[in-house]
This record gives sequence, C-alpha cells and structure tokens, in this order.
Amino acid sequence: MGELDGRTALVTGGNSGIGLGVVRRFVAEGAHVIVTGRNPDRLEAVKAELGDAVTTVRGDVSSLDDLDAVFDVIAQRGTGLDVLFANAGGGEFAALEDVTWKHFTEIFEANVGGTVFTVQKALPLLNPGASIVLTGSNIDVKGAPSFSVYAASKAAIRSFTRSWAAELVGRGVRVNAIAPGPIATPGLSGLAAEPEQAEALLGGLAAGVPMKRLGTPDEVADAVLYLASPRSSYVTGAELYVDGGASQI
Ligand SMILES: NC(=O)c1ccc[n+]([C@@H]2O[C@H](COP(=O)([O-])OP(=O)(O)OC[C@H]3O[C@@H](n4cnc5c(N)ncnc54)[C@H](OP(=O)(O)O)[C@@H]3O)[C@@H](O)[C@H]2O)c1
Repeated sequence: MGELDGRTALVTGGNSGIGLGVVRRFVAEGAHVIVTGRNPDRLEAVKAELGDAVTTVRGDVSSLDDLDAVFDVIAQRGTGLDVLFANAGGGEFAALEDVTWKHFTEIFEANVGGTVFTVQKALPLLNPGASIVLTGSNIDVKGAPSFSVYAASKAAIRSFTRSWAAELVGRGVRVNAIAPGPIATPGLSGLAAEPEQAEALLGGLAAGVPMKRLGTPDEVADAVLYLASPRSSYVTGAELYVDGGASQI
C-alpha cells in the first residue's frame, strides 16, 4: 500500500527540480498527480516518464486564466483534490541598488501571487482531510545580501501558512510549508550569473551548510510526503526546515 493510494494531488512547477522530485515520490506512493509548469518540453518529458499516473497541464501561476485552465482540468476529473503542493516559483540575485520594478513584480507575482491564487482556486475542489503544502525557503528567517526581494516573498509564504491554517482548520484542511535550504536543482544552478560560475556558487552554498553539502530533491520530497500524508494529521500551520541545519545551528 502506498501512502497516497487513490489520492489526487496537484504539484505546481512539477517539471523540474524539487517539484519533479515530489511528483515522482507522490506517484510512487500511489497518487494521481496533476503537474504544471510553463515549459511544454519538460512537461512532455514528465508525461513520457510517468505515463497515466500524471496529467500534465501547461500553466503560468502568475496568470489567472492559466490557473483557471488547470483547475478546469482537475474539476473535470471529478475526484477533487487531496493534496496541493504549491511549489512553482524562483528568484534571482539583485543588490538593493539594482532592484528594478520588473525584478520585484516578477518574483512577487510568481512566488506570492501565484501561491495565493493557486490556493484560492483550489478551495472548491479540496476534499475533506486535504493537505496543502506551500514552498517557502530557509531564507525567510535569515538576512542574505542580494536576495532581499526573494527572501521577502518567502517570508510572505510563511505568514500565509499560519493564516490559511487558521482559516481552513474548521474544514479539516491542513496547511503547512516546507523551507528548503540549498537544494541541487536547475533553479539553484540558474542563480549563477554565467553557467561557468555555477560550480563555485554551489560549492560556496554547500560550505555554508552545517552538513557541508547541498540537499537533494528526494530529501525535500520525503518532507513534503510527510506533510501531505495522514502521518502528519496533527500538524498544521507549521514550517518544516529541510536545510542541513543551516537556519537552526
Ligand atoms: N533549490 C533551492 O535551493 C530552493 C531553496 C528554497 C526554496 N526553493 C523553492 O523551491 C521551488 C522550486 O525551486 P527549484 O529549485 O526546484 O527550481 P527549478 O528547478 O527552477 O523549478 C522551478 C519550477 O517552478 C516552475 N515555475 C517557475 N515559475 C513559474 C511560473 N510563473 N508558473 C508556473 N511554473 C513556474 C518551473 O517550471 P517552468 O520553468 O516550466 O515554468 C519549474 O517546474 C521554488 O519555489 C523555489 O523558490 C528552492
């Protein structure tokens, strides 16, 4: 028996990195997973790998029309939603003096607006006992140079986790967040200004972690599975740090 047998899950940003790791884990545990992202080629690759266990839908979480299209597909399946992993998003470095309105709005529209309206539009479809897992970051409790807009977007996720947990507890819906540290994904490597600088960036990030290494999408998927499954039935409003101790010790 899988931990998510017969469950329906939505993973936004499920065609790469952490999201893809979670899609694979959810499928291995018996769920049917709706997978979204903007890049059609990477969505096609997920479909080719996982077949009937997934439904892929192209969609930008910053677009309300795209979100409506995603939730139309889920509504048509008729099974409701048991798990929502709101993961789509990302960031880029910018020192405060270099922050532009475009930098600010792109990060906030995807990370904050995308999460708000993904969860809002999921509400009518959530089954009793559903679990929502948001994607924060361990940077939400730390200061880091040149990453302030991204950090603030993830601090907003921490706040939404608590507020929505309070709003939805009466419906029997739990809301929690994961807060990854540096995890080896295309998104993390992509923070380097030039591809040849990626190795140095990743090495520097790993050196700053007490465990002296990057985490893997599989390690984050273990934490997300815990929060998504009934094993965490008495946990809501929490943020689980998956960061090799970086924010704690
Ligand atoms: N890796 C880390 O070290 C780390 C640490 C803390 C938090 N996080 C968070 O973890 C999440 C996943 O990041 P990752 O490292 O796995 O990066 P990734 O490999 O770049 O994956 C990001 C995923 O989000 C999707 N996405 C991005 N913007 C989107 C948008 N506007 N609409 C729909 N989908 C969108 C991407 O697909 P498309 O490009 O096809 O749209 C992709 O599937 C992000 O929220 C990130 O902030 C990552």
